Amino acid sequence: MSNFFEKLFAGNTGQSVLGIDIGSSSIKIVQLKRKGARAILETYGELSLGPYAKTSVGTATVLPQEKLIEALHDILVEKEVNITTRLCGIAIPFSSSLMSVIEMPEVSHKQLAEMIPLEARKYIPVPISEVTLDWSIIPRNDVRPTTDFDSTPLPAGQSVSQAGQPKKISTVDVLVVAIHNDTLGRYVDLATKNNLDAGFFEIEIFSTMRSVLEQTLDPVMIFDMGAATTKLFIVERGVLKVSHTINRGGQNITASIAKSFGVPIERAEVMKCDLGMTATTPEGQEISQVIMLTLEYIFEEANRIVLTFEKKYNKAVSKVIMVGGGSALKGVNDAAKKGFQTDVVSGDPFSKVVTPVFLEEVLRQTGPQFAVAVGLALRKLEEL
Ligand SMILES: Nc1ncnc2c1ncn2[C@@H]1O[C@H](COP(=O)(O)OP(=O)(O)OP(=O)(O)O)[C@@H](O)[C@H]1O
Ligand SMILES: [Mg+2]
Repeated sequence: MSNFFEKLFAGNTGQSVLGIDIGSSSIKIVQLKRKGARAILETYGELSLGPYAKTSVGTATVLPQEKLIEALHDILVEKEVNITTRLCGIAIPFSSSLMSVIEMPEVSHKQLAEMIPLEARKYIPVPISEVTLDWSIIPRNDVRPTTDFDSTPLPAGQSVSQAGQPKKISTVDVLVVAIHNDTLGRYVDLATKNNLDAGFFEIEIFSTMRSVLEQTLDPVMIFDMGAATTKLFIVERGVLKVSHTINRGGQNITASIAKSFGVPIERAEVMKCDLGMTATTPEGQEISQVIMLTLEYIFEEANRIVLTFEKKYNKAVSKVIMVGGGSALKGVNDAAKKGFQTDVVSGDPFSKVVTPVFLEEVLRQTGPQFAVAVGLALRKLEEL
């Protein structure tokens, strides 16, 4: 595959960049290059982390730092993926961040920068000196905030434009994001040990927002179904309004198939990925029912989050965008349409990237799993 890309884009002089998403069950990596105003896919790959923890593919792992360094090294040198640059952006898991929306008086940025660390103490359960803090004003217009982290602690972040705010409003909502300095340190170490030139570390949802959101005024929900958890984010006009984690994901589905059919986890994982919820044989129908049990739990909790949002803001969530490996489950979109009673689409991060025609179908299917990695690489390209 890589040879094909080399030939197709031979003569291109733009710099290549990587987006690296270290998920709990696998590392996803995407290499892009700029050609004129467009981003071009050079290569992409995924490496399962299960084998590094002596568990099976598709399950969430908690690996010691040395193992993670080793795994990242392995995908960076994997011949078939053929990564050729070390310039990158790296994702930080949502679970390693603390986010709160806090109401602040409408004062100058300088004053806010002094006040926010003091105010944030109320929301952050660890000493403020132990976290790296960033913040951005939630605009009342259509601007998207960036929330990312340098490797050095920032006293305060940048904020987006306040243009267009009515004068009489005397408070502003501020999105405050904190990451523990130890966590950030581990990611810096991961990059350094692999000779990576990490331009930034970004919480995964902001990468996903960049790669899958279209400009729309209505609130949408990003539904990221990973291995151990499903993460929900409600976004309005490019601004993150609500985030929530449900403690169920793809591995729960696999585990219940294994239990119901009395088969090993590895076999259950294959059955899940091959058959999903669309097989019509008696076995296929039974698998569908087993899968539905986990999905119903997830949809029910997700619906509660949606309802709370809709009541609070008096607005309907107009669409659900599915990302993560769980969204590759056959038939999941139809089940989600019923579960949410709303429009459901698969995230299509590669639609923002030029890709070879013969890969289009494959990329539409695997695309949702690469939403974070593509979003990171797109930002790195913008920043070159
Ligand atoms: N074709 C498929 N059908 C069904 N499930 C799938 C398919 N492909 C992958 N999965 C499931 O997706 C899950 C992994 O998703 P993903 O790669 O998004 O997780 P992750 O990024 O490692 O996790 P997290 O973001 O929670 O840390 C696994 O449970 C896997 O079984
Ligand atoms: Mg993930």
